Parts: sequence; structure tokens; C-alpha cells
Amino acid sequence: MQRTGVVFVGCGFVADSYRQCLGLHEGLRLVGVFDRDPERLAAYAGYWGDRAYRSLDEALAEPEAGIVVNLTSVECHFEVTRAALRAGRHVYTEKPLALTRAQAALLRDEAKAAGRRIAAAPCNLLGESAQTLWRAVREGRIGTPRLVYAEIDDGMVHKAAYRHWISRSGRPWPARDEFEIGCTFEHAGYALTLLAAMFGPARRVTAFAKLIAPDKGTRPPLAHPAPDFSVGLIEFDDGVVARLTNSIVAPYDHRFRVIGDDGCLEICELWDYASPVRWRRPATSRLARFAERRFGGFPPAKLSPARKCPLPRGRGRPTMDFLRGVAELAQAIRDDRPCRLDADFAVHVAEVTERLQHPERFPPGGAVDSAFAPISPMPWA
Ligand SMILES: NC(=O)c1ccc[n+]([C@@H]2O[C@H](COP(=O)([O-])OP(=O)(O)OC[C@H]3O[C@@H](n4cnc5c(N)ncnc54)[C@H](O)[C@@H]3O)[C@@H](O)[C@H]2O)c1
Repeated sequence: MQRTGVVFVGCGFVADSYRQCLGLHEGLRLVGVFDRDPERLAAYAGYWGDRAYRSLDEALAEPEAGIVVNLTSVECHFEVTRAALRAGRHVYTEKPLALTRAQAALLRDEAKAAGRRIAAAPCNLLGESAQTLWRAVREGRIGTPRLVYAEIDDGMVHKAAYRHWISRSGRPWPARDEFEIGCTFEHAGYALTLLAAMFGPARRVTAFAKLIAPDKGTRPPLAHPAPDFSVGLIEFDDGVVARLTNSIVAPYDHRFRVIGDDGCLEICELWDYASPVRWRRPATSRLARFAERRFGGFPPAKLSPARKCPLPRGRGRPTMDFLRGVAELAQAIRDDRPCRLDADFAVHVAEVTERLQHPERFPPGGAVDSAFAPISPMPWA
């Protein structure tokens, strides 16, 4: 099998999750890693036994690097992705592609001009659970889809023991960055990518975002705490509307529900590729409405997954295959076909995310500028 060489830039918290998924991908070969923090680089490379580069230039000049995987902090995504493009590399970047639509579009244009590819995380859209739900929508299981309720409430993170969240190679969870970038920039993509794949480009966004708990227990206090709550109404073609909530204050809830004329499809955990997809008929009879009111309804049917999720289960193991997007990009380059998470798609997701986190920058209900070509489902779905 042909294997694509990849280089990781950024050896922080998430880099361990990527590294743990490497064994799932015969088509990828990790050639080396780099981090601008020498201690972090040594800890990561030492733990995993990987080759460490001495500089970003050396990493980007690696002749065997088919793809550079940008796992740096969010505020560095733009400069690192641009440097990699200028070094002639294809890039897969952690989300978001950039912090503004304008910067995201600049990267896309630069990549196109250079004949290079960019793709961006998250890639849970390519997961078994998301593909099963999407297939059920396509097959008309709920009739015409009308409404989506997507929640990415992550619990009251600042009251949790986040100082003790440590990755496999010893990196503490970067709390300050997370609180200053904001949960919407960090998380909205997990729902937006699936929405956009199913319903096409968002047409209009009406959003509200607010900082609800300014003191997150950090010492010193945060200089620029970001909104920790946002809610957006996103309108798609054919009248489909999605309400997406992001927070790190409300109780943990990662449900994704698609409501159609003939029922509701539900994933309980967007961050688990093996999360079952459930289907519920609308409660119309007296008995069904009574059951819904008193017990949450009759038990839903569990749909058979489009394919068995290959991720091994167990404590400390990721529930998402973080490298699936990189593998998709590598395969798309080898096959000379569009990548399902390509640059236009990533720019669109970045734009909608910016509109959700910074509604003050846009008119309410404002039209979304960016668009992308239709995305095809995975061949096994
Ligand atoms: N923390 C999570 O649970 C999580 C989960 C999914 C995705 N992500 C995403 O992963 C990305 C990284 O997050 P993280 O949690 O690993 O952060 P982190 O702070 O733990 O790691 C980022 C690493 O990048 C390095 N870095 C920054 N700028 C660099 C540069 N110019 N050159 C080389 N190295 C550089 C830093 O030194 C640091 O070690 C973010 O985009 C985040 O949204 C994080």
C-alpha cells in the first residue's frame, strides 16, 4: 500500500490523541515532529520515540513530508499553515482554519495559487456515527428534514479539575488558551461540518454570544476571556434551520438531533464515532404523547451502523479517530479527487464559526458569503 509521510507541527495536548490513532492508518507514516517549545518537543518525541526536528524550517523542508499536520495553538494556525504552504506542503490543520473568514480565505487562495491542498479538522463528519445519521437522512427515514437541535455544552469546565487533565506524554490541558479562544471557536465545527455536509452551505446566521462566568479560576486572571456561551440559528436551503448551542457552563450535553416530518434522528455524543444513532417516530397518538410527557417517550429504535467503528475502546483511548481527516486528505491527493474536508469547506465552517462567536461583527441574519461544492458521503455509508 502507498503510504503518505506526515509531519506533526505542535506537540501539545491534542497531538497525543493524533498519535494514538496512528496505528489505525496503514496509509500514513509519521516522519517526524516539531514544537517551538523545546521541553515539550523532547517530552513528546521521547515518549513516542519519534524523530524531532530542530526548527520549523527543518520540519517543513522534510523531503518525505507529503502532508504537514498543524496541531499548534489556535492563534498560530494561520502563520504555521501559511509557512507550510510556502514551503510547498499540503496542510491538514486543527480547527479552526483561521480566526477570521478573511484569513481563512487568504490561506485557501494561497493554497490554490500554489497548487497545494488544505483540509481542516474536525473530521467527526467522517465517523461511523455521523455517516450513519446522514445516510438515514438521505434514505428518507424521517421524511423531509426541517429542524436540527445541536448542543455542544461541555459542562461547567472552570469548576472541574482541569488543572489535572494531562495528556499521555504529559502536556496539561491548555486552559488559558481554551478560555481565551472560546468554546465556540473550539467546538462549533463538530456540528457545523455535519450540518454543512448534509444540507449544503449555510445561507444566513443569527447569533448571540456572551461571557457568563468571567472568572475561570486561572491565576493570573484571564486578560481576554472569550464568550463561554453562544447560540446561533443557521438557515440552510429548503427551509432547514439549525439551532446550535455552545457552552462551557451548562451541563454536559453533546446531542445532535435532526427533526423531520416523520420523526427524529439522534446522536447522543458527537465526540464518539461509535455513538449509536437512534430514530424516534413523532408522538402523535394520545398514548404516545402521554409517554413522551411522562417518560421521555417510547424507546427509540437503534439504527444499524453504516460500518463497525474500528477504534479500540478503553480508558484513556480517544473516542474519535483524529487522523481520519488526514487519511482522507492523503487518499484524495493520491486519487487526484476532491477531499471531503477541503479548503472551501473549511473556509465556510470558519466563517460560520466566526459569525457565531462574534455576532457583533455581522448584521443579524446576515447572508453567509462563502460556499463549497457538494460533499459526498464515505463510500461505505
Ligand atoms: N485540547 C483538546 O482537547 C483539543 C481537542 C481537539 C482539538 N484541539 C485543537 O488542537 C489544537 C492544539 O490544541 P492543544 O490542546 O494541543 O494545545 P496545546 O497548547 O497543548 O498545544 C499546542 C502546541 O503547539 C505549539 N506551538 C504553538 N505555536 C507553534 C509554532 N508556531 N510552531 C511550533 N509549535 C507551536 C505549542 O508550543 C504547544 O506545545 C487547537 O487547534 C485545538 O483547537 C484540542
